[in-house]
Amino acid sequence: TWADLCGPRQVLLAEPRSFCAGVERAIDIVQLALQRFPRPVYVRRQIVHNAHVVRDLERHGAVFVDELDQVPDGTTVVFSAHGVAPAVRDEAARRGLNVIDATCPLVAKVHNEARRFAARGDTVFLIGHDGHDETEGTLGEVPGKISLVQNPGEAEQVQAADPERVALLMQTTLAVDDAADTVAVLRRRFPAIESSPTDDICYATTNRQQAVRAVATDSDVVLVLGSANSSNSLRLVEVAQRCGAEAHLVDDATEILPAWLAGARTVGVTAGASAPPHLVDEVIGTLRALGPVEVTERVVTREDVTFTLPKTVIDPKGVVG
Ligand code: F3S
Repeated sequence: TWADLCGPRQVLLAEPRSFCAGVERAIDIVQLALQRFPRPVYVRRQIVHNAHVVRDLERHGAVFVDELDQVPDGTTVVFSAHGVAPAVRDEAARRGLNVIDATCPLVAKVHNEARRFAARGDTVFLIGHDGHDETEGTLGEVPGKISLVQNPGEAEQVQAADPERVALLMQTTLAVDDAADTVAVLRRRFPAIESSPTDDICYATTNRQQAVRAVATDSDVVLVLGSANSSNSLRLVEVAQRCGAEAHLVDDATEILPAWLAGARTVGVTAGASAPPHLVDEVIGTLRALGPVEVTERVVTREDVTFTLPKTVIDPKGVVG
């Protein structure tokens, strides 16, 4: 009823939320490329998995494509934050495209580890989701020497040429708890398994999951801003649900259904690492239209990570043509 829907509300804002350093860098790279190079500037795959970000950059002249064969000769192409397989890099080099790489440095780190492990003869297991742009890129680093493991069930089945020489990598945006279950199975079956010295699940993923947990435990419903193909945003929904909260993924405030808010006096709000911060403000605006809102931030940590931009977009000598 109307009375259920309206009335005073508490909003618990998860902090950290929204853009991570890798996403900010990737968006900056496309914007700088648009200023520096002849348009259109092509971007292979969604620069980050967010519909609002993609639409905004399209308005500024970016053209998003699935594969390099849609990129004309002599033009500029940006590789997305999720990284690419070497085969894609090679094709771009062969065709003489002006390549700007927006791969997140933390994804690039996983690629380097894949090469290092494979070079010393390890079978590499990559815990991740099939078909995701990031896993495609990492698997493509060392074809034939790496296999995808999606869950504990698959971890029970995978085989290694030499069980003493196995290594473990992860997609950067996994649910920390889920990944731990899969890792446990692999460690039991392959006690000698090696992993990277630091966790492959990135700081931004870990922090946003902790923060959503801090709000979900006290919320009637949790709204997660993010697009349906955003791995880290989907994981935030799952983490909130595991805390017992009702949780929904929305691309923006217009997707909120009144039924979710009926009777919900405490609403948790967060945003995936690819979702722009203004979307959170808009959600709070929508809630304010239904009654007085008191906003409290639950801060689990403050982030101060930034990544440097590639020379090709900041150094004028990098201009081609
Ligand atoms: Fe990079 Fe993690 Fe963001 S891998 S793009 S910092 S979610």
